[in-house]
Amino acid sequence: MMMSSSSMAAAGSSSELIYRGLPGGGAAGFSSAAKPPQSSTRSISCKAAARLLRYVAGEQRLLFALLGMALASLVFLLLQPPSSSSYDSSSSTTTAASSAVVGLAAVHHHHHHATSRVPLGLKRRGLRVVVTGGAGFVGSHLVDRLLARGDSVIVVDNLFTGRKANVLHHLGNPAFEMIRHDVVEPILLEVDQIYHLACPASPVHYKHNPVKTIKTNVVGTLNMLGLAKRVGARFLLTSTSEVYGDPLQHPQTEAYWGNVNPIGVRSCYDEGKRTAETLAMDYHRGANLEVRIARIFNTYGPRMCIDDGRVVSNFVAQALRKEPLTVYGDGKQTRSFQYVSDLVDGLMKLMEGEHVGPFNLGNPGEFTMLELAKVVQDTIDPNARIEFRPNTADDPHKRKPDITRAKDLLGWEPKVSLHKGLPLMVQDFRDRIFGGADDHTTATTKAAGDSN
Ligand SMILES: NC(=O)c1ccc[n+]([C@@H]2O[C@H](COP(=O)([O-])OP(=O)(O)OC[C@H]3O[C@@H](n4cnc5c(N)ncnc54)[C@H](O)[C@@H]3O)[C@@H](O)[C@H]2O)c1
Repeated sequence: MMMSSSSMAAAGSSSELIYRGLPGGGAAGFSSAAKPPQSSTRSISCKAAARLLRYVAGEQRLLFALLGMALASLVFLLLQPPSSSSYDSSSSTTTAASSAVVGLAAVHHHHHHATSRVPLGLKRRGLRVVVTGGAGFVGSHLVDRLLARGDSVIVVDNLFTGRKANVLHHLGNPAFEMIRHDVVEPILLEVDQIYHLACPASPVHYKHNPVKTIKTNVVGTLNMLGLAKRVGARFLLTSTSEVYGDPLQHPQTEAYWGNVNPIGVRSCYDEGKRTAETLAMDYHRGANLEVRIARIFNTYGPRMCIDDGRVVSNFVAQALRKEPLTVYGDGKQTRSFQYVSDLVDGLMKLMEGEHVGPFNLGNPGEFTMLELAKVVQDTIDPNARIEFRPNTADDPHKRKPDITRAKDLLGWEPKVSLHKGLPLMVQDFRDRIFGGADDHTTATTKAAGDSN
């Protein structure tokens, strides 16, 4: 009883102190605007403090209080998660870009340590990779390889020419995500690497809405570069041999600047990709972004769009349907054909390597259109007829990569010959044409309303 009354007295005097200290009665005046205390007030406060001290010292209260604090600290320490060095060791083999994300994980970890557990999603083993255009032909093969390697993959695709069927086999995999999104609109994702493939690649598709094609190449690439810069990710652009236009140099090395018609019907694609390369290099030079540029030459393989106007898929589909093989011009124009697994190999080597590029990725084995038609006849139907049609505008006469740079600096070269690769593609086309699989042959009608 004595104690409680003395503590009440202490409380009373201190509240009196507060009251006197407030000239205008406002709380803000508590310390700074208080009038200097009078001497009587000082003596009261000294007495109150002495009483308080006596109270605390009595009956070993101080000892108990200290013991309580020590116990609380002990419990707090025991509940702390292991130190952040585990993040460092797991990330030691990753790129500088990934360490930025690891850093981000550490920040999250800091925020979460009151709950004393690191959220599962932040413990990263593989890399977190975005593949734009990952539901397309090349992209879906790349996704297969990245997932097989143990990475987490986010596909960003508006399904203009891509198909869900290309990535359907990953749907149950927790390391796989797909976002239906148009890269012309910005998107924010926390990732270590960005493979930027999103762009219609065949003439049928990219000429369908040329303004949209160039917008995808320019605005879409800008958006993905901006994202890479923001999260410190490494960025790989899939450019094209079309940047060489109708080349005056043969075969084409990366040093060749090209011969492109800036106002032709293919310009939306050719010039779009050239601008995308420019943007990538400017982000690299100006914002220190880690970029990689691949110039891809004609690639074929399973999951290509059927009837997309590209010569290999055209010939294969025509031969399977017992239609004549259409050869444009005199059929003497040459192309090189690279099997898709070789390309994916090259893209991953480029991404993991230390060289910006650009790198030609293609198969230097050169075929005329007539020679290609012969391989298709040999593989599918020896009786398939060939029909000649007038050449399309700006169709380059010769295209063959010089891959010396990729060989020397990336240790990469294609391994699959046309004779080996074509049957693999034919099997897939046969299944899709005759197996009743839902194919995506009407991309043009799908995007008809897409007028921007
Ligand atoms: N296949 C080749 O021979 C070849 C040659 C040179 C360059 N490339 C380049 O490789 C990349 C992939 O080509 P592909 O052959 O797999 O073509 P593809 O048409 O099969 O794949 C392109 C993918 O990008 C998606 N896409 C298109 N516009 C988009 C947008 N605005 N937003 C989001 N997604 C969009 C499509 O839906 C599709 O899934 C392209 O950038 C292409 O220019 C391919």
